[in-house]
Amino acid sequence: MKVIVAKNYEELSDIAAKQIVELVSEKPQAILGLATGSTPEGMYKRLVELYNENKVDFSKTKSFNLDEYKGLKGEHPQSYRYFMNTKLFDHINIDKANTYVPNGTAENIEEECLAYDERITAAGGIDLQVLGIGNNGHIGFNEPSDFLYMGTHLTDLTEDTINANSRFFDSKDEVPTQAITMGLGGIMKAKRILLLASGEKKAPIIAKLVEGKISTKIPASILQVHSDVVVIVNEAAASLLKKNSIRNIESISL
Ligand code: GLP
Repeated sequence: MKVIVAKNYEELSDIAAKQIVELVSEKPQAILGLATGSTPEGMYKRLVELYNENKVDFSKTKSFNLDEYKGLKGEHPQSYRYFMNTKLFDHINIDKANTYVPNGTAENIEEECLAYDERITAAGGIDLQVLGIGNNGHIGFNEPSDFLYMGTHLTDLTEDTINANSRFFDSKDEVPTQAITMGLGGIMKAKRILLLASGEKKAPIIAKLVEGKISTKIPASILQVHSDVVVIVNEAAASLLKKNSIRNIESISL
């Protein structure tokens, strides 16, 4: 696991966006794995800027999002489809037909999950998976548990996650209690993983992710066994890391 400490959120967002631009420039038909949450918002904003400066062309790119709330239609302002459209897809030249987000209102959720994984495989697998991290160590909506899932599946959200995500809804009662998420297998199959975390609140979980034991109680800790993970954090999120876990950005060939 490589850890890059950015000076601040802007730099973190810039480094992450440039990773995507570099990949798409080298491989225009790249398959991106995308994430929602407040952390990658700056990266999406930066990507839109770089697109407007003609630095990148997404016309051949496909994307698969990690997760979606069960029961929310794509037009719902808190759905992850809506998030992706408004923060990124509406502002770049990606073909929306090539952007996939699990369908939270699918009649047959099991079929939707199987079809989602098949679509990723048929597309050739994810080249670069962007991840945020929940305070409890979840990635996508893979919550701490005795078991983890390989494939895309329906999951119950923990109280922790419902509380954390209630800030986006008018009241806690409106937060869906279930979601469809890619599983750990799907995430781990990505060729490269970029995990982003910002702010002091994320410092304890970042220390566990990088320096702690691998446990299903910290789903993100499984990433320690992936051969190409880059963790990009700002100074606040890195504040509980031991010095020797951190590598200087100059010393890393990204
Ligand atoms: C949500 C998403 C995750 C995300 C996490 C952290 O629950 N399902 O994919 O990583 O929140 O969000 P934030 O970046 O807002 O802290």
